[in-house]
Amino acid sequence: MSFMGQAILWGILIGAVISIPIVIFIRIYMNKRMQARVAKEEKEYEEKVRAAEAAGGKQVLLSVQNLDVVFKQGKNSFKAVSDVSFDIYKGETLSLVGESGSGKTTIGRAIVRINPCSKGAIYFKGKQISGKLPRWLDREVIRKIQMVFQDPAASLNERATIEYIVSEGLYNFHLFNSEKERMAKVEKAINDVGLLPEHLTRYPHEFSGGQRQRVGLARSIVMEPELIVADEPISALDVSIRAQVLNLLKKFQRERGLTYLFIAHDLSIVRFISDRIVVIYKGRIMEVAETEELFQYPLHPYTKSLMSAIPIPDPILEKKKKLFVYEPREYAADGEQPQLVDIGNGHMVFGDSEEIAEYKKIRFGE
Ligand SMILES: Nc1ncnc2c1ncn2[C@@H]1O[C@H](COP(=O)(O)OP(=O)(O)OP(=O)(O)O)[C@@H](O)[C@H]1O
Ligand SMILES: [Mg+2]
Repeated sequence: MSFMGQAILWGILIGAVISIPIVIFIRIYMNKRMQARVAKEEKEYEEKVRAAEAAGGKQVLLSVQNLDVVFKQGKNSFKAVSDVSFDIYKGETLSLVGESGSGKTTIGRAIVRINPCSKGAIYFKGKQISGKLPRWLDREVIRKIQMVFQDPAASLNERATIEYIVSEGLYNFHLFNSEKERMAKVEKAINDVGLLPEHLTRYPHEFSGGQRQRVGLARSIVMEPELIVADEPISALDVSIRAQVLNLLKKFQRERGLTYLFIAHDLSIVRFISDRIVVIYKGRIMEVAETEELFQYPLHPYTKSLMSAIPIPDPILEKKKKLFVYEPREYAADGEQPQLVDIGNGHMVFGDSEEIAEYKKIRFGE
């Protein structure tokens, strides 16, 4: 190699030796600064929660703002979620209800960041979690927001033992200092969901649907999450098992102060577990209200159609019951566009000004 070539090679080598530590140093410094900023924001958030609780109010844990999710398939695109906004308060159960294909799972998956947001943003404890996040914040959010899936059979790895399935998150996030600690966490989670330590060496196919859903729950709670997105967690289960799983969810909420986004497609299931209900139709929110408010004053025709689909325990009344079918209204493209409007008492309904005036009249007699 010529002298010139050698000089260039040495130059590159020396440059690399000097610049690599500088780049590493800058990255560590930036990460530390960001961590300090987020820790400060988190402290401020906790202070706000305490202040809100002391004043008898509620603090927002998760906020979805003007969310659109568009799926692109070649040249075609399909908007599964349009301009969806709602808040989930710390410690509450918010249910998302709507018919099949209305976009409930898509919203849940956007919150746990499986589906990217095409528009809008999602905030968790005041921090934006949609879009690109630094790795450590990404990991923190993955741990604190867990999702429980509808189909307990499909969501568990059939080839892994229950012990491995429940431990997987602990391994991925290094959430234990010793094998003893990991085992203690796994056994506590499995106990908490009503299974036995001897179940840990078994495989998912050896369990019933209800037991598998319990394993799914154990896998989530072992991570000590703050928010659980439960996507139809009981739909695939036998009616007799459903109440058991719902009671378990309620128990965790009481004991651990958990917050839930509960997804279901009929209103009867959610009545007894939700604090508030969001009704969704074709990717748009039609109505939001506290549970009893919604059951007492269902205003939007789509909510009414869901109400009329709830079975009545009396067979004679059930036979006579008229099903209310929802016919979506077309709004003229050049006319006033409908909006989600707060009509009072935390009750929000989707409509144009004429419809909103009518809803207010029905609700408040104004
Ligand atoms: N990955 C995807 N690619 C393309 N379209 C999708 C994708 N995921 C969902 N969709 C479409 O988005 C719409 C909403 O689907 P989503 O699964 O969110 O509905 P859902 O309300 O959860 O329904 P269900 O009650 O049946 O679970 C559907 O029309 C679905 O076909
Ligand atoms: Mg779904």
